[in-house]
Amino acid sequence: MPVQDERGACHLSRRSFLECSGAAALVAGGDLLTRVGRAYPQETDKTIRMAVVGGRFGATFHWHEHPRCVVTAVTDLYPERRERLKNQYRCDAVYDSLETMIREAKDVDAVAVFSGAPDHAKQVKMCLDRGWHVVCAVPACVSLEEAAMLKEHKEKTGLRYMMAESSWYHQECIFARNLHRAGGFGELFYTEGEYYHDHGDLQKALTDKSGLPYNPDGTRSWRWGYPPMLYPTHSLGFLVGVTGERVVKVSCLGWRGTRPEVREHPFVTDNAYGSPFWCQASIMSTNRGHMCRVNEFRRCTNYGDRAQWFGDEATFYTPLSGVHESVICVRGKSAEIVAVPQYWQSDLLPEPMRRPSGHRGSAMFISAEFVNALLEDREPEIDLYESLAMTVPGIVAQESALKDGQQLAVPSFDRAQL
Ligand SMILES: NC(=O)c1ccc[n+]([C@@H]2O[C@H](COP(=O)([O-])OP(=O)(O)OC[C@H]3O[C@@H](n4cnc5c(N)ncnc54)[C@H](O)[C@@H]3O)[C@@H](O)[C@H]2O)c1
Repeated sequence: MPVQDERGACHLSRRSFLECSGAAALVAGGDLLTRVGRAYPQETDKTIRMAVVGGRFGATFHWHEHPRCVVTAVTDLYPERRERLKNQYRCDAVYDSLETMIREAKDVDAVAVFSGAPDHAKQVKMCLDRGWHVVCAVPACVSLEEAAMLKEHKEKTGLRYMMAESSWYHQECIFARNLHRAGGFGELFYTEGEYYHDHGDLQKALTDKSGLPYNPDGTRSWRWGYPPMLYPTHSLGFLVGVTGERVVKVSCLGWRGTRPEVREHPFVTDNAYGSPFWCQASIMSTNRGHMCRVNEFRRCTNYGDRAQWFGDEATFYTPLSGVHESVICVRGKSAEIVAVPQYWQSDLLPEPMRRPSGHRGSAMFISAEFVNALLEDREPEIDLYESLAMTVPGIVAQESALKDGQQLAVPSFDRAQL
């Protein structure tokens, strides 16, 4: 039987997982349960020189902790955020804007773009045109035209692109990916991905200028009324990041509220996107004939991103905002709590990076994977095609919600098959 700790958690070592699942097919893939990648190529003498754009979320990564990476340039439009970047990354080359940095910075190989979502595609193009590899915050883009433009520029320049999707490297998502690769789900036919980010007190959200809907200078930020389905990548990371499937059809509904203080709130009546929705729920079908449900809620009483995966041999549930444990149900067994391995403790990360980090351990994996990919001259695990597969279905879902749930086809931006 699985090893039980004092909380009754089931520790899935290779042997105990095999007993837990009873699935003989897992024998070949059992090691995948604990191994997901590699640390970094010790033999290289290359060092990656990184620039960073955006000093709020962009100041929370760990490029400079990779033994083969140094941050050589930072920029933000606001002085206090430039200062934060300078301190975080121990970098004295500070620029007033990305545009200035592109003109003046010389010693840069790659750039981390952590500006607001509507700026990503345009700024990524500027950086690719400058000859820099790019890691960019989510989402990859906000329109189908931008998706096509990104694909064209990435393929034209041959440079590397990675989207910094955190759910892909949640410890639970790594576990689900490994379980899927080992065949433990049987046929994984249904995935639910959810991202909840409440705006809080509705009046305070308008008056408190230190909140996220405002920029440091008091102007409205890109988050003001931003359509929830244009931020689908945390939820879809649980599908694309586990099975690699592509969403091919989408139907989506939106909720605006009925009480006047909700329905007539400026976030949904007066925003730059013409979007009337607080919350959106979408049902999607995939290129393998499977189902996926995505919830993107911005007015609700839950927080964070989570998933559940249903196969015909096993089901796996991630915790709800830290309230309960991860749970697995395997055919023929009762539901059990799973102590998901803390992959960040292992040699999957360079030794100095083996620490807990933001968004369920993902910040360290994102930082290491992008640098490793450049060192090894390969595409990052979350390349442009995976990134667009997590972004584009939400763009189409927004269109569907504006058409009261009409089912729409999702175009592919995958690499052309030769
Ligand atoms: N879990 C996650 O993956 C996660 C969490 C938070 C934010 N994000 C993403 O990260 C990105 C940044 O989020 P945020 O909350 O820090 O946004 P933000 O709007 O607070 O900060 C963006 C920063 O980019 C800077 N910027 C924009 N254009 C610039 C330019 N031309 N030159 C220099 N600086 C420029 C702005 O000055 C600003 O400080 C967003 O796209 C968001 O979607 C992802």
